[in-house]
Amino acid sequence: MSLKNWDNKTWLSSKKYIYSFNNFLLKQVKLDKNSHILDIGCGRGKILGSLYSRLRLKNKPIGIDIESHQDRDKRIHFKKIDATTYLKSNKKKFDLILIKQTIHLLNFKEIKKLIFICKSRLKNKGNIAIFTLETSKNEIPAFSLMLKKLKLSLERDKKIIRFISKNYRKIKKTRFLFKVKLSRNKYIKMIKNRYISTLLGLNPSEISKGINEINRKYQKLLIFNDKLICLILEK
Ligand SMILES: C[S@@+](CC[C@H](N)C(=O)[O-])C[C@H]1O[C@@H](n2cnc3c(N)ncnc32)[C@H](O)[C@@H]1O
Repeated sequence: MSLKNWDNKTWLSSKKYIYSFNNFLLKQVKLDKNSHILDIGCGRGKILGSLYSRLRLKNKPIGIDIESHQDRDKRIHFKKIDATTYLKSNKKKFDLILIKQTIHLLNFKEIKKLIFICKSRLKNKGNIAIFTLETSKNEIPAFSLMLKKLKLSLERDKKIIRFISKNYRKIKKTRFLFKVKLSRNKYIKMIKNRYISTLLGLNPSEISKGINEINRKYQKLLIFNDKLICLILEK
């Protein structure tokens, strides 16, 4: 099962989220209209599309993903391809390689290989920006089985962050926070759509029990912080 519904009409595709995410990103890395940008695991490519308009980029940014979405952003060059395969297929260099909420889907060997090759494809003063879910005090609303799976996945994420930090010395760690307000019903729809990788392995009865639990456990309006750890790797 794939992650087709990740940003399908969720707060992650809202203008407010994308604007606020790009505000944060532009404070972390220096970009201008001449920048070349690659987004690995770009999904619908809305973050890239918005950067294209905001920076008035001369070169369309490149977004790659193993999934292709009908409604993806038209302001980007999209390629349906695996990240490492793409990077090996050409010698293009970038000022920014963005890897947002995608690294956890790879195994350690793949991560090592990917970061190594990404580093070799950075222009002078270029950066890799890796974003991944906050591993402690995560506030994502969850039912008990989802929480159990999420905790396991966050433990693995901690190892990924340690692994990257150990292997690459020129690294800066910060945090991005976005306050989410959405109705419980909308969130239940997202759960039904298995918006997050933690839900991909659950069967329909586990999802339906989980939804009952969400209805019992949470108020009609959900308010929480979507928190990400940001790792900036320099060339
Ligand atoms: C959780 S989504 C994040 C989407 C987007 N970066 C965002 O933050 O809104 C992860 C994306 O990574 C893609 N993906 C997974 N493995 C990949 C790989 N090896 N190469 C390229 N994309 C991959 C998935 O198809 C999915 O669209």
